[in-house]
This record gives sequence, C-alpha cells and structure tokens, in this order.
Amino acid sequence: MKIIVGPASKELGARVAELLNVEAVSVFAKTFPDGESYIRLDGNVENDEAVIIQTTSPPQDTRLIQLALIADAAKRNNAKQITAVVPYLAYARQDKVFLKGEPVSVETVAKMLQAAGITRLITVNVHQEKALQRFPFPAKNLSAISLLAEHFKRIGLKGAFALAPDIGATYIAEQAKIILGGECGYLEKHRDRYTGQVSMKKGSFNVKGKPVIIFDDIISTGGTIIAASKILNELGASEVYAACVHPILVGEAEKHIHEAGVKEVVGTDSVPCSASKVSLAPLICAELKELQRG
Ligand code: R5P
Repeated sequence: MKIIVGPASKELGARVAELLNVEAVSVFAKTFPDGESYIRLDGNVENDEAVIIQTTSPPQDTRLIQLALIADAAKRNNAKQITAVVPYLAYARQDKVFLKGEPVSVETVAKMLQAAGITRLITVNVHQEKALQRFPFPAKNLSAISLLAEHFKRIGLKGAFALAPDIGATYIAEQAKIILGGECGYLEKHRDRYTGQVSMKKGSFNVKGKPVIIFDDIISTGGTIIAASKILNELGASEVYAACVHPILVGEAEKHIHEAGVKEVVGTDSVPCSASKVSLAPLICAELKELQRG
C-alpha cells in the first residue's frame, strides 16, 4: 500500500503514512494562470494499492478536480486499486432533489470519481449515510465523534452534557455521551430552504449549571451553533463548547460563535484550520489496516 498525499490534506496524509509505516507519494500541484488545476505524482504506484488522501472542503470544486486528476494519474501508472480517503465529502448534502429542477449533486460527484479510476471511497461523518448509496463502488463512512469526545474528556470535561443541535444529529450526541459519561439531548432546528435562516426550539432537558458540548457534523456559517448557544445560555448552562468533525467555518464564523458565548470550538483535521485540534489519522489508519488484512 502507498499513500498519495493530496494537496488538500498534506499533514493528515503524511501522518497516516507515518503511522502505517508505508511510503508516502507526494503530489506536485499548481494552478495555471487561467485557473485550471495541474497535478503530477512525485513517485511510483505501479502494481501498488494506492490510497489517495484528499479532503474536498473549500474550495470544493478545485479539490474535487485535483482528486479526480490524481486518480487518473495513478490509474495511468497502473495502480492495482485506487482508494480515495475523502474526510469531508463535498456535495454530500445534496443527496436528493429537494426542490424541482435540482440535481442529485453527490451522484454526479460519485460518477466523476468512478470515471477517474477510483474504486473505493472512505469518508468521515458524511451528513447522511444514505448519500453513499449513490456511489457505484464501495463507499464507507467512519465516525470521528469518539475521538472528539475523548479530547473533551482529556481536557477535564468528563460528565459534560452532549447536545445535538437538531434531531438528525442525535446519534452524534449519543456516541459522545458514551465516552463522556454524562447526559445527552437535542434541540429542534428548522432551516428555511430558500433563505438559509435557522430557527430553534428547546427540548425537554435540564442543563442548568452544567457544562454543555454541542456536537455537530459540520460547522459552516456557524448559524446553527450560535442559535443553540443562545438557548443554552438562557437555560443556564455553566459553559458552552462546540465540537464538529468538519470545521468549515466560513468567513468570520469562529469569531461570531465566540461572541455568542461559546468558549472553544474543536474540530478535526478533516478541514485543516485553527480549530483542527483532533486528528483523524488513527481512525483512518485503523480502517486501512482492516482493508490490508482483507
Ligand atoms: C445540518 O443539518 C448540519 O448538520 C449542520 O448543522 C449545518 O451544516 C451547520 O451549518 P451552519 O454552521 O451554516 O449553521
């Protein structure tokens, strides 16, 4: 097995190769003056199992094209199998037609990756697992919630309340609760599909005087966390933290989240940024070892 370190996940890719003690193949990437992407593999994957590690967080389109070009280069170099480890899977949220006239974006992405030569996909906390059914090859979802919860336990938040900001994220809060050993609950969120505006209602739980960690898959604009934090402050939580697998944190999202009373934002290196305090490397290594065992 060789790890091809995609330009979007340089540190994560190198860490995975080091932990697995396998060769890391680097990728030379540049952008042409007109905006097109160029890549070149700086190594050989002939007759090897090639594993490309490349997240597709913003700029999503560029990173998807880079991923497809890397796969094509690996295929032309006669790699045996091409597995893509894509921690943040762009377009996964458009997994069906919500409004007439829309595409199923994740299916288009899946077909593009297949055409480029990818034969297997591994992702992390994809928004809806059913999006992976749109892939024409094996696609697996891993969960990094335990890693995030372990981080909070290490920094002294054992027993904290794990909160899901919407009913769909309840399974996330439940996974965190197992590690943290406290209680969990959820809020009721509604997002207007046309304006993107978030509104929230509190559920029937008591967080008065307790530290609360809001767990979500993605923090994008921060609107969800800000609305949840306001409710938690009204309910008398002693401290509020935010945890997510994919800290997209658009623009000044992190600043606005802190202004809404959140003490700390903790994310993973799915999206490399200042909030990436937890590495996905052990999770990815465990899965790749499993694949090697057959
Ligand atoms: C949506 O259901 C997701 O789980 C996240 O809650 C959402 O993507 C977060 O987006 P934002 O930070 O823009 O509210």
